[in-house]
Amino acid sequence: MPYRWLMDEYRKTNLTNWDERVDGHMAPDGYDIDRLVDDPDWITPVVRHDASKLGDVDGLSILHSQCHIGSDTLSWAKLGAVVTGLDFSPKAIAAARSIADRMQVDATFVETELYDAPNHIGGTFDLVYTGVGAICWLPDLKTWARVMASFVKPGGRFWIRDSHPAMMALDDSRDDDQLVVRYPYFHQAKPINFSATESYAGTAKLKNPDSYSWAHSMADVINSLMEAGLTLVRVDEYQHLDWQFLSFMEKRDDESWVLPEAVRDNVPMQFSVLASKP
Ligand SMILES: C[S@@+](CC[C@H](N)C(=O)[O-])C[C@H]1O[C@@H](n2cnc3c(N)ncnc32)[C@H](O)[C@@H]1O
Repeated sequence: MPYRWLMDEYRKTNLTNWDERVDGHMAPDGYDIDRLVDDPDWITPVVRHDASKLGDVDGLSILHSQCHIGSDTLSWAKLGAVVTGLDFSPKAIAAARSIADRMQVDATFVETELYDAPNHIGGTFDLVYTGVGAICWLPDLKTWARVMASFVKPGGRFWIRDSHPAMMALDDSRDDDQLVVRYPYFHQAKPINFSATESYAGTAKLKNPDSYSWAHSMADVINSLMEAGLTLVRVDEYQHLDWQFLSFMEKRDDESWVLPEAVRDNVPMQFSVLASKP
């Protein structure tokens, strides 16, 4: 099923959309690339958070799946990891390589469809890392988990932190402060079509606004990883996001976004799963 999907319209639409987002994300009002390059001590808030959970990565090999323009991947490199990033967008991979060159960091970025990654990336890694807006773009979680697990060294770890499926079911188009369920929580084979002329970062207008995404329940995430041979170490749920999802969310000093206090306990915004390979 995933290999037939490689050629289908949903994938092509998503690839066009992700390719087009890259220029806006590289612009000064997009991701903070100049800061990443110029300030040797600065790492992205995403990696700052996850490093506090994963501990010292100095000398570890890390595979970053769906690495986009590599800002998180290269933040792991700043912490001493030997990094490889994969993404299906040629423009994202070209941007990641250009940032690595500017930083004079030795990093490997591989352009590949996730489901085809074992044909393009050899070896195994101490940590296979994925996060923040990744699995909703994938139609088949069982194959995703098998691909992820295949890259983890025996004794190595797998980590994902991503949008919580309960949060993804909410209606993000409302301009009042109501939490209203609009989309399915459980997986459906047919994806949800979104159309947005702006990305979540930067102000560039998109000429290819359409994208398709799939819901994956918490049980699907956890069971797919266990069925792929990984051992669950820890599951967490969080009240914050690294981007603004609803108009009435509040930005905190650490650059994360939360719901107003009155409803903060009502729904989780993100989850993480840490697993290991025996
Ligand atoms: C929201 S981004 C990940 C964001 C990343 N955490 C960051 O902020 O830099 C999602 C990435 O998934 C990639 N992607 C989507 N579908 C993919 C697929 N089927 N195979 C490989 N990469 C894919 C996109 O190109 C995009 O770079």
